[in-house]
Amino acid sequence: MSEGLNKVYEFLLAAGTYYLATVEGDQPRVRPFGTVLLRDGKLYIQTGKVKPVSHQLAANPKAEICAFKDGAWLRLAGELVNDDDRDVKVAMLEKMPVLKGMYDPDDGNMQMLYFKNAEAVFSSFTAAPETVCF
Ligand SMILES: Cc1cc2nc3c(=O)[nH]c(=O)nc-3n(C[C@H](O)[C@H](O)[C@H](O)COP(=O)(O)O)c2cc1C
Repeated sequence: MSEGLNKVYEFLLAAGTYYLATVEGDQPRVRPFGTVLLRDGKLYIQTGKVKPVSHQLAANPKAEICAFKDGAWLRLAGELVNDDDRDVKVAMLEKMPVLKGMYDPDDGNMQMLYFKNAEAVFSSFTAAPETVCF
């Protein structure tokens, strides 16, 4: 597993909350998210297929995440790809059991999405930016 990908995962996990931007027509949409899973070299997030965010990504998979922690911020841009593998959904629910009250792997709603063609940039006011691609 790439060290850079692992760094992105650990940063998002430690930040707790990140902000996910999607596109709807010519309008950016942004909302808080917190789900994150690293599995088989892929960085996943989770949502519900009934949500507008899911519909936006189906129409246009381009997305960007921003997270901030301890004076540093991460911008992660790429495309989000749907993955209906049941094992991935189960792994997400085990990683973040609070989701079990809202989602089930077989509910037809739970959606796992992973980043492809991703570029992550770590920035701060005190150090040069660091870029990771995966
Ligand atoms: C701290 C926090 C974390 C959240 N994490 C997620 C998440 O990981 N996945 C998700 O689908 N919704 C999450 N939500 C709820 C979404 O922000 C909310 O459903 C939002 O309305 C979805 O965007 P949409 O209305 O454009 O579909 C979270 C909300 C908060 C306050």
